[in-house]
Amino acid sequence: MEKVTVTALQRMKAEKQIITMLTSYDFPMTRILDAAGVDMLLVGDSVGNVVLGYPNTLPVTMEEMLHHTRAVTRGCTRALVVGDMPFMSYQTGLDDAKRNAGRFLKEAGAEAVKLEGGVTMAGVIRAIVDIDIPVMGHIGLTPQSVHRMGGYKVQGRDEKQRLQLLDDARAVQEAGAFSVVLEGVPSSLAREITNELTIPTIGIGAGIDCDGQVLVLHDLLGMLGTFRPKFVKTYVNLDEIISKAVKQYVDEVRGRTFPDEAHSFK
Ligand code: KIV
Repeated sequence: MEKVTVTALQRMKAEKQIITMLTSYDFPMTRILDAAGVDMLLVGDSVGNVVLGYPNTLPVTMEEMLHHTRAVTRGCTRALVVGDMPFMSYQTGLDDAKRNAGRFLKEAGAEAVKLEGGVTMAGVIRAIVDIDIPVMGHIGLTPQSVHRMGGYKVQGRDEKQRLQLLDDARAVQEAGAFSVVLEGVPSSLAREITNELTIPTIGIGAGIDCDGQVLVLHDLLGMLGTFRPKFVKTYVNLDEIISKAVKQYVDEVRGRTFPDEAHSFK
């Protein structure tokens, strides 16, 4: 299997080959996802919600991101690993942004970074790209802006927002990003952006016409508790499967049927 690179992704868009991306946060899952042929693994700051138990992504730190990114890069051979820059690691100035982006590559083995924002973040994207670190943009519903948006709301529904998102997409591409995530935008707008841009668009809650798709792994695996966003397809209910296995273990230990002879030494 050929290693996925940013140039390979560019080629995939040109050849209309769909790109697959999932989030990953640890070594054992990464080995499974990589072997299954996922093209890009995003060590998302969604680690805050789905692994660390935070209410949103805002508390996630650089140290937490680097810790999880290291585990992912240790388990990955083919997919391109993208480290997600956490809140306040790139908004505080170009030097901070460059230093923190560099840490993902130097200290954790990532091959690219992702950051949220369009027109207002174009200068930051440019500064990081200029030191040869590939950057993935992220526009539309940007979870680090939850308080400005007043919740996790679909973006780009009215004309003003639609034009803003088109400007954001152009700005991200012009700043040198190799790809851009479109999150929580109407399918028709995602199609319009995808047709206009030369870099691949990766959709989440953005319809079928993006150049690729991404989901949060725990959503796909049914480990998301009761909250189920409309765009999430749950392919398996691991909450239920794990709970059943653990209950059986507890029952067998309490009933003194585990460990049996087959699982004991003579
Ligand atoms: O952090 C994350 O998981 C993300 C994806 C939703 C794109 O940014």
